[in-house]
Amino acid sequence: MAHRVTPAAHLRGELRLPGDKSISHRALIFAAIANGETLISGAGDGHDVRSTAGMMAALGASCERLPAAPDDAPGTARWHVRSPGRRALAAHGDGRLDCGNSGTSARLGAGLVAGVNGVHTLDGDASLRRRPMARVLEPLRAMGVEATGAPGERGETAPLRIVGGTLKGGEWRSKTPSAQVKSCVLIAGLAASGSTTYIESVATRDHSERMLAARGATINRTQGEDGSWSIRVQGEAELRAIPQVNVPGDPSSAAFWLVAASLHPDADLTIRGVSLNPTRRHVIEILRRMGASIEETPGPDDGSGEPVGDLRVRSADLQGVEITPQDVALAIDEMPILSLAATMARGATSIRGAGELRAKESDRIAGVADGLTQLGLHVRVEGDDLHFVGGERPKGGAPAVRGDHRLAMTFAVAALVGGAAVEIDEPEAAAVSYPTFFDDAARVAGGATHGTPA
Ligand code: S3P
Repeated sequence: MAHRVTPAAHLRGELRLPGDKSISHRALIFAAIANGETLISGAGDGHDVRSTAGMMAALGASCERLPAAPDDAPGTARWHVRSPGRRALAAHGDGRLDCGNSGTSARLGAGLVAGVNGVHTLDGDASLRRRPMARVLEPLRAMGVEATGAPGERGETAPLRIVGGTLKGGEWRSKTPSAQVKSCVLIAGLAASGSTTYIESVATRDHSERMLAARGATINRTQGEDGSWSIRVQGEAELRAIPQVNVPGDPSSAAFWLVAASLHPDADLTIRGVSLNPTRRHVIEILRRMGASIEETPGPDDGSGEPVGDLRVRSADLQGVEITPQDVALAIDEMPILSLAATMARGATSIRGAGELRAKESDRIAGVADGLTQLGLHVRVEGDDLHFVGGERPKGGAPAVRGDHRLAMTFAVAALVGGAAVEIDEPEAAAVSYPTFFDDAARVAGGATHGTPA
């Protein structure tokens, strides 16, 4: 059923967000291969994370979903994971692993099953079957794995067939900045003979490195003279489970509120317990360049290996900026909501080198441009660049969500900060990463009308 979201009189209050999606996936995967038992609290309870949990169970780890405790953040789940040991995982039945809509499940999962005995088929929904997978199949083949995909418009795609078991370490230099590809290679490297090195030109999110080191993997990171980063992991690794893991709030979900409150004339929001990992906080830096008022209060070290803190964001007079290809790589998931900020900020904004957005859950360049245009805003696409004139106000409408969670939430924010109601045709898409988004919107906007069925 469509949701009708109306302009907010104000945006005020406190938010606790679902656990970070990237960390939640990794917490489950690493718990499934580390010796021992893990209780994960605060995990994002979106569909994507559930897909990864289902995959770990299908490979033979015990994954029990427990009810959240009363003081856990809304939209989170607890998982109790017991690993039979990395070497005891195996393909069962027809070896099919359902990744749903989740590129992270498919790409990190591909790296995992490369070291797990059996013939595995990783598949998912129509969106996943359009996403490029050669980027993970190529390094796995270079490590000696039989790994193939189905032919797709953008090269090989799901379903992926991977014959897991033995693989050898080596060196892989990424063509595209991608934490998913890096994590695939590092996870495969844990089971490989010798060591495996992944080289990236831009430092992408580093949760895998931090979390693997915390579980006893031998992993190190060095910077080359050309500025690129090499991450080397020792193979045939034995990981130790961390008994209690707490997942911090997702900064990519926080981004919707950082932009909403910055753009709304009467806004003051505090977002508690967000991951402020240096490789995830770049959206804060871009918004500050635009003139946003975002205060940070660092929280205590909770042993998660991730810096965590509270963010307070208030109304601001945003100005247009140049968003470079480097910015895009460092804040790839936040480009849809930053595009909305660009339409309303004073003066022009350009986002350059955003081609990777075409390879997400939907073609986000087309989705953002068409959706914002539908709301009466001006966006010009030139190749992989987006240009915004700025100084506009969304007029309301019914933009197509294309089954994409980040587009659903971007257009909902356009209604909260704009001049007229917006119909969100697939509100359920938000549940991929932020199942409580519309409840949070209704609460901070202080109106029962937000997010009610049309
Ligand atoms: C993710 C990495 C990013 C991001 C995705 C999650 C991860 O993808 O877009 O939502 O958890 O590693 P790429 O690294 O492929 O750009």
